[in-house]
Amino acid sequence: MRTERLHQHLGLTPRTGYRPAAGHADVWLLRAAPHLAAVARENITVLSPEEQHRARELPTPHGQDTYLVAHLALRTLLGKCLGQPPAQVALARADCPLCQQPHGRPALQHTSGLHFSLSHARDQIMIGLARTPIGVDIEAADRVRMETLIRRLHPAEHTAIKALPADRRRDALVRCWTRKEAYLKGLGTGLATPPHQVNVGTGLTRHDEDELADRNGWTLTAVTAPAGYAASLALLVPPGTRVRTTIRTRAAHPGPPRRPLVAEHRPNPYRRIKTPPRAPEPLRAG
Ligand SMILES: CC(C)(COP(=O)(O)OP(=O)(O)OC[C@H]1O[C@@H](n2cnc3c(N)ncnc32)[C@H](O)[C@@H]1OP(=O)(O)O)[C@@H](O)C(=O)NCCC(=O)NCCS
Repeated sequence: MRTERLHQHLGLTPRTGYRPAAGHADVWLLRAAPHLAAVARENITVLSPEEQHRARELPTPHGQDTYLVAHLALRTLLGKCLGQPPAQVALARADCPLCQQPHGRPALQHTSGLHFSLSHARDQIMIGLARTPIGVDIEAADRVRMETLIRRLHPAEHTAIKALPADRRRDALVRCWTRKEAYLKGLGTGLATPPHQVNVGTGLTRHDEDELADRNGWTLTAVTAPAGYAASLALLVPPGTRVRTTIRTRAAHPGPPRRPLVAEHRPNPYRRIKTPPRAPEPLRAG
């Protein structure tokens, strides 16, 4: 399929050869809307056989759609940056910092100087690009089981959240969790690092940012997410670098493009979704 038409659908518009500036994270927030899911299913062969297999293994058509849109969007973005068709973007896994096996942070196989991170929650997709290692995380607030999650916090985070008025705790907890996952995804260990051993702070005070940045070069930033979601990013930067984030939300809730897409006709191994996505509840006011 013509990649420009794919970009038109996905609303992903970095110029060819684009690279984020040093200390800068570019974030794309997309929703796997039905028309994007249809584009992704029509273009499933843009994904690697392994990605296609993983999508098929997901238990629900809704989860499959989100995965397909996320990976098509990721490949489209990286392809633009690299000046390659999305299908030719060679993805790999970095070594896990804990066991040195190749199941760490997803990475580009051959290109240094361009890093990315991907997260999806329900039908929302978050992609971060940067020159240095990055981790992103988005969570649906109403999916969070407070009692379970609060037990996985660092004691200092737990104390800070318990000290808040009851009606602010859920919001703070979800944000804290996205900080933690973004950081652990940036490191590449994911939740194999016991989450309660890592203090990322709640992000409610300036001290939280400073403490993390001073400790090992990672800076955590809250990202404005759609209603009902919380999102954060972690970026590894040299000491003293001021991190800047550009949120590219143009494609967050796009309608179909004016001209219909003429896609290549390929066999579609998926069923179409019949159930409309459930609207998430809004985050409580903080
Ligand atoms: C990585 C992890 C935190 C993702 O959490 P999640 O809330 O389920 O999912 P998210 O949507 O936020 O992120 C999923 C994306 O994270 C990325 N990812 C997967 N593993 C990752 C890792 N180790 N580091 C950074 N990013 C990772 C992938 O791009 C994945 O997208 P995909 O499933 O579409 O390929 C979680 O899956 C995890 O901790 N896995 C365990 C890792 C592990 O045990 N490793 C063994 C160490 S010895």
